[in-house]
Amino acid sequence: MRHTLLPVAIVLGCSSLPLAASAAGNLNMICSADVVVCEHMTRIFSKEHPDIHVSMVRLSAGEAYARLRSEARNPRTDIWWAGTGDPHMQAAEEKLTQEYKSPLLDQQQDWAKKQAEISGYRTVGIYAGALGWGYNTKLLAEKKIKPPACWADLLNPALKGEIQIANPNSSGTAYNTLATLVQIMGEDQAFDYLKKLNANVSQYTKSGSAPVKAAARGETTVGIVFMHDAVAMQVDGFPVKSVAPCEGTGFEIGSMSIVKGARNLANAKAWYDWALSAKAQSHMKEAKSFQLPSNRDAEISEYAPRFENIKLIDYDFKTYGDSAKRKALLSRWDKEIGASAQ
Ligand code: G6P
Repeated sequence: MRHTLLPVAIVLGCSSLPLAASAAGNLNMICSADVVVCEHMTRIFSKEHPDIHVSMVRLSAGEAYARLRSEARNPRTDIWWAGTGDPHMQAAEEKLTQEYKSPLLDQQQDWAKKQAEISGYRTVGIYAGALGWGYNTKLLAEKKIKPPACWADLLNPALKGEIQIANPNSSGTAYNTLATLVQIMGEDQAFDYLKKLNANVSQYTKSGSAPVKAAARGETTVGIVFMHDAVAMQVDGFPVKSVAPCEGTGFEIGSMSIVKGARNLANAKAWYDWALSAKAQSHMKEAKSFQLPSNRDAEISEYAPRFENIKLIDYDFKTYGDSAKRKALLSRWDKEIGASAQ
């Protein structure tokens, strides 16, 4: 279940097609979306910018933040593309990333621009997606378990050992879940809930979408993930149903940041501007990445879970992306949940 580093270097042969916005050389990128879309977008960018050699590594959002921290004195990464907004906000607050106002900012949805404003333009929203879970319809029927429609249903003793969720230290998805539950229930009640849920959890994975991939393969019954990750399994033909929790749920603003001290700054900006364009964002769905794009003119997949059909909380990105808050919640999780897990 462990997703380790997946270095992908895409080198394209020389071409005589110089593109306006690109400067020759390298671009070192951390990608925190699903590896399939990371590779897809890298490939498309590389075709359009043949003079830029992109080295991409896929890291979960919490790991990416930790990597930026460890590289602070000697940055090797130029740009961090995608992944949940909270760790991007934390990196912004710790000034691990740098201010940039793209000329394409005006084309973005308000929620994407707000992410930029509250971070002092050190990060920007690139997509949004609601949190929920996916379950394996066949397994659930075989085990005669009532389909879980609400957060409360996940505590059903019949689901003992049947749920997977990621570890919030490594995974932005899992941190988004922790912060969502705290916002819905209050902190003490949320930890109480997570302790009870722990009895039903068989594994805390490293990457956020791994639980629903396991559910698709029949290795677990329920995976707590972003709804679009569950939909991707459905579209792939697996017997998976995605659920928007009845009590309400949180959502992510997938983000993008340029690393402070980036050695290939011009190329980082070329990626940044490209990644905010409607054309680039319209490619996401080809890799079964069904988030809502930030560019107002980007095509939205017919499979994207629409916010108007989901009961959403007013997720407080500033508070839960705050460095001290994130540290405190994660250390409480380690003590009260992580220590007794597995
Ligand atoms: C999946 C989702 C993305 C999300 C990412 C976070 O790839 O499709 O929307 O941003 O998970 O990954 P993580 O491994 O940090 O939970």
